[in-house]
Amino acid sequence: MKPNKDVIAILSRALADTFTLYLNTHKCHWNVEDPNFYSLHLMFEKQYGMLYEDADTLAERIRALGAYAPGSFQEFEKLATVKSYTGPQMSAEKMISFLLSGYEALLKTLYETMNLAHEHGDESTFDVVIGQIDIREKTVWMLRSSLK
Ligand SMILES: [Fe+2]
Repeated sequence: MKPNKDVIAILSRALADTFTLYLNTHKCHWNVEDPNFYSLHLMFEKQYGMLYEDADTLAERIRALGAYAPGSFQEFEKLATVKSYTGPQMSAEKMISFLLSGYEALLKTLYETMNLAHEHGDESTFDVVIGQIDIREKTVWMLRSSLK
């Protein structure tokens, strides 16, 4: 299989989205204030850990395709569709809704990556991304359930 530049470009966006959501979730882990503080603090820790590992996998897939991975705040800011968590302190409920909107953007990118990889016969990228979609959708379920 010959590496495809569109697949590499969308993988770079998936990496930027995943890293931005990682950082947003880590910030929630640090700053959450709620009667359920401890369980939210731990839930965010599990979630940012998975995002951090998956960002690494995406970056290394980009390298395996012969390109260089973006890795600075400036590069990520340019590429990401997930919004960064800046601005004033949020309630736990707001944090969860904000993270959910990030997951929505990330999942859109991951589905596009999956389809493009499939189109170009890049089954390895397809496999990596499909595994990550499964984990991200599970997290969406957990975050949604925490709001009810
Ligand atoms: Fe911590």
